[in-house]
Amino acid sequence: MPDVDGIKVLCEIMQRHPETRVIMITAYGSVEMAVEAIKLGACDYVMKPVMFDDILAKIRHQLRFRELAEQNRALKSELAAKYSLENIIGGTVLMQTVFATIRKVAQTKSNVLIVGESGTGKELAAQALHSLGQTSGGRFVGINCGAIPEQLLESELFGHKKGSFTSAVSKKKGLFEVAQGGTLFLDEIGEMPLSCQVKLLRAIEERQILPVGGTEPIDFDLRLVAAMNKDPQDEIKAGRLREDLYYRLNVVGIYIPPLRERRADIPLLVNHFINKYNKQMGKSCGGMTEEALQVISHYEWKGNIRELQNVVERSIIFSEGELITLSDIGNLGSRRASAGSEMEDLQTYLRMCERDHLNRILDKYERNKSAAAKALGVGLSSLYRKLGELGVRS
Ligand SMILES: Nc1ncnc2c1ncn2[C@@H]1O[C@H](COP(=O)(O)OP(=O)(O)OP(=O)(O)O)[C@@H](O)[C@H]1O
Ligand SMILES: [Mg+2]
Repeated sequence: MPDVDGIKVLCEIMQRHPETRVIMITAYGSVEMAVEAIKLGACDYVMKPVMFDDILAKIRHQLRFRELAEQNRALKSELAAKYSLENIIGGTVLMQTVFATIRKVAQTKSNVLIVGESGTGKELAAQALHSLGQTSGGRFVGINCGAIPEQLLESELFGHKKGSFTSAVSKKKGLFEVAQGGTLFLDEIGEMPLSCQVKLLRAIEERQILPVGGTEPIDFDLRLVAAMNKDPQDEIKAGRLREDLYYRLNVVGIYIPPLRERRADIPLLVNHFINKYNKQMGKSCGGMTEEALQVISHYEWKGNIRELQNVVERSIIFSEGELITLSDIGNLGSRRASAGSEMEDLQTYLRMCERDHLNRILDKYERNKSAAAKALGVGLSSLYRKLGELGVRS
């Protein structure tokens, strides 16, 4: 190389193709140059005079390395694809079944009813159905049927003509029209007023809507996805959900199980949310301690994945070490116990765990405080303070 030296070439290669595996050949005795080369990204070096067996062995080694790296990358993305669908994470059989149903139904335009407790991911499932499916060309439009007054809901859905009622100062397109070719997501369908349920049923049967005050029906072509967090059969019995509408919507039913019935997904979800908030907050949290994960895995999760997500977000804010600890999770300052049910509040639950643990250790040492403090790895005064705080009999 008459014009540049090896180090310059190495720098150039690393800049243009950083994946390249470079073995440097350096002059006999030039250790500094070898060290410099490794620092700059070379993966190995040989010194002159070159032994061909030596160089062959090194090349084989690097080829093997590259093969493994590629395999690793492929496996990782395969795993990610297997344990997630769009943005939904789930490795348990229960969630894999949900994924399979979503993939299949996405190929059709059939109406879908998604049932699951609050925070289980119903809206996420509806969005996955939309983006994987036939309707991804159109828009995904959602409406919370429980949050809009009865008189307005009808014109929200079907639109209205100018002057059709006092405040209808101009013509308005309904969501059925806005979502043409796409997905209309009817959230909390069980809370839709019964009069509106009748109109919705008629629209579905005729594949046409009639704007409020209008006379010309409009055809629509879209997928309806409805969601509710109560048991449809109970709602039908109670007279809050029309049975005929239920059958029209529930062409395909998707049930999303609560988190406490698929606890094996918790570590996956924790990981997913840690990555998400690391990126969002520019943090580099490396995970959760074994102890913290234990507690998280046994908690009730009444608020399901939404609650878990909030807990991880707040823990990352409070976390100071590399891993999220039990006390980071416990530091959830503003959590208040919801009246009546103790277990719903994570802080109460954590206190209960602490109390149980302290009692167990105290019993083990026949309630000898110094021995227990030693076993717990805290000072005697800290133990007394803890006992007082938690109301443990000493
Ligand atoms: N399996 C999952 N993987 C990753 N994130 C999830 C999963 N399930 C839910 N989430 C997240 O949890 C939050 C709640 O999800 P979503 O809004 O879909 O729940 P929902 O069932 O519609 O709740 P609600 O009945 O209260 O409206 C969202 O931020 C969502 O991104
Ligand atoms: Mg929702």
